[in-house]
Amino acid sequence: MGELRFDGRVVIVTGAGGGLGRAYALLFGSRGAKVVVNDLGGDRSGKGSSPAADKVVEEIKKAGGVAVANYDSVEDGDKVVQTALDNFGRVDIVINNAGILRDRSFARTSDTDWDLIHRVHLRGSFLVTRAAFPIMKKQNFGRIIMTASTSGIYGNFGQSNYSAAKLGLLGLSNTLAIEGQKYNIHCNTIAPTGGTRLTEDILPQDLFEQLRPDLVAPLVLWLCHEDCSETGGLFEGAGGWFAKYRWERAKGKFCRTSVNEGVTPEAVRDNWDAITDFTDSDHPTSNREATAILAIGLQELSSEPAVTSNPTAASASLGVTGPLAARGVTIQPSSFMYGPDQLILYALGVGVSRQDEDALKFLYENDEDFSALPTFAVIPSQSVLFGGKLWHQISGYTPNLAKLLHGEMYIEIVKPLPTSGTLHTGAKVADVLDKGSGAVLILDSETKDDSGSLVAKNQWSLFIVGDGNFGGPRTSNAAIPPIDAPNRTPDVTEEYKTNIDQPALYRLSGDKNPLHLDPSFAAVGGFSEPILHGLCTYGIAGRIILQKFCGNDVQKFKAMKARFAKPVIPGQTLVVDMWKEGTRVFYMCSVKETGQKCLTGGYVDIVETSATNESFSSASTLGSATFFQEMARRLAGDPSLVKKVNAIFLWNINSKGTLAGQWTVDLKNGSGSIYEGGPKTGEKPSVKITIEDEDMLALMSGKLNAQKAFLSGKLKASGNIMLMQKLQGLLVPQSKM
Ligand code: NAI
Repeated sequence: MGELRFDGRVVIVTGAGGGLGRAYALLFGSRGAKVVVNDLGGDRSGKGSSPAADKVVEEIKKAGGVAVANYDSVEDGDKVVQTALDNFGRVDIVINNAGILRDRSFARTSDTDWDLIHRVHLRGSFLVTRAAFPIMKKQNFGRIIMTASTSGIYGNFGQSNYSAAKLGLLGLSNTLAIEGQKYNIHCNTIAPTGGTRLTEDILPQDLFEQLRPDLVAPLVLWLCHEDCSETGGLFEGAGGWFAKYRWERAKGKFCRTSVNEGVTPEAVRDNWDAITDFTDSDHPTSNREATAILAIGLQELSSEPAVTSNPTAASASLGVTGPLAARGVTIQPSSFMYGPDQLILYALGVGVSRQDEDALKFLYENDEDFSALPTFAVIPSQSVLFGGKLWHQISGYTPNLAKLLHGEMYIEIVKPLPTSGTLHTGAKVADVLDKGSGAVLILDSETKDDSGSLVAKNQWSLFIVGDGNFGGPRTSNAAIPPIDAPNRTPDVTEEYKTNIDQPALYRLSGDKNPLHLDPSFAAVGGFSEPILHGLCTYGIAGRIILQKFCGNDVQKFKAMKARFAKPVIPGQTLVVDMWKEGTRVFYMCSVKETGQKCLTGGYVDIVETSATNESFSSASTLGSATFFQEMARRLAGDPSLVKKVNAIFLWNINSKGTLAGQWTVDLKNGSGSIYEGGPKTGEKPSVKITIEDEDMLALMSGKLNAQKAFLSGKLKASGNIMLMQKLQGLLVPQSKM
């Protein structure tokens, strides 16, 4: 790597008649830059004048460089910049260095002492930089240095005015770095120490000599070079030693447990140790990062008043601390209310598209089969568990949420989720495992409807990195284990390309962890970019299996398990391999672009309809049952119908608007079959017919005309409805389709 050159660049160094500024000007001049040597030429308190700038210009020229002197005050910033334009036609670099001192103990600091310091340091830097900034923007290049001081960083007796102005410059620089970013304008701040007239009576003589200004200048040159990408930084430099500063923020503590509560000064006092504890600190580099960390904390605050005691948390009440304190903790049921909009939003979040078969069933509340995707069962449970209730009910253990990973998920659908209503979910920490590298909380939840009947069960396995080795068990009977897929070629493989905006959509279903959307937050978590929600991948896999093996019939989807192995980056393509073994569909999900497995050990249990074929029997009390029985008898007498029709008909028989029975007329497979329930082959029916039981009776006895029934809405049919005419051969003569 060659010498760092500044040929063709124009640099303004303010206050360059002596001290540090002179050293910068000389070094820039020797590296090919054209230098504006600005200096008012006053004494160290700003009084008087001298031709100091001319002397420095001479030195630069003598060494073969190009320079011009400027005697304006930095308070006339535009004149300083104009000198650069008049002489060299451009400005690439501004070093705000000019400065004076008016040291006084605070009580004796006059208005003039205060104002003068601010005018030269803070306002002067503002005015010179503001005059140069539009030029830099236009040329899409600029490098700016602000000069702060350790007196500002740490404070210094007698320098209240100076300290304030110096750290004001840091704030200015931080914002300029943000505003300049897209124009390739970088702004950094330095806190130098140099043996100059400002420090001659402060620094001991031997140190004064060692801390020559030319030993600081190389930092300034590097920060201003076009190859340097640093911006918004703060650096200390002295005697050839350089170091970057950063903010460190303690993990901190919320002094309230619920968003509905206020905070008392006593709560702040009582939490002081935690508020000031740097053990688990972070280093936010931007406002966004800083607030994102706060945002996740707020999300964890319960939306309900704090629960002060939890009688069921037996271990906690016994004084157990650490992860084991969570074992046995129960969370009282709380409610989750939803309607079709939430179901549709969730369906969109897991990639249901109008291009899919039966898409409207999940996307359109007016669809006759409008249904909740089975994996929506995670949402009511998630809202209850992670609304803050869990963590606040465990006394003796507070996991670091930044280190919490979703390890595994299991859902069991006891009955299809209603398309709207209120569900009530309660939970219990079934066990706590010690995996060495972390703790695993096994959380069982039960979701019930208003009548108290069970709708779904969930098991969440939460892995807390770093909290292991607490002497707990490694395994537990309570854990529902993942099961690896069979070792053979998959029966079905399906791909789904995720969308870059998938997390932005999925998060609206409740999981608003910024990790999935905010790049700076993802960076804090150690990810190069935001990652897709694990449960979004889970939902996508579930939806694909529902389509491939259940014909999108949500009643057939019984349970689903997955282990979250690796994160998925939005935009990557998921490959879902599926194997059917009996009533279990094993699946494995990997990322096409990397080959990495993201969901492993997964399976979906499906319910096959127990069907009778030739020997039709039905326990149904519906009047329609007899007609299906009759159809089965006719089919047995004319198996050629199967060849002629080659279609599956699904009949939904309603009683007072609610589904009361289902019959499948399979005129496609084998010698045909008619049975109660949905298609047992998992295939999508060619035609779906929905009708009231009593209208079915009227239709079959010839009292109701099929066409009229269709037009009046009594008979609803979807799919290839022309095929219905082919049913004629199965029907009693008086009825007509
Ligand atoms: P210096 O006094 O040798 O240089 C400052 C120069 O600024 C002088 O030549 C002065 O004539 C000029 N100046 C003052 N008011 C001006 C105005 N209104 N317009 C144009 N020029 C003006 O001091 P030194 O030590 O080289 O300081 C340079 C910068 O570094 C200052 O901002 C100072 O506060 C800062 N600094 C210096 C430290 C040190 O150890 N020397 C420590 C921390 C910060």
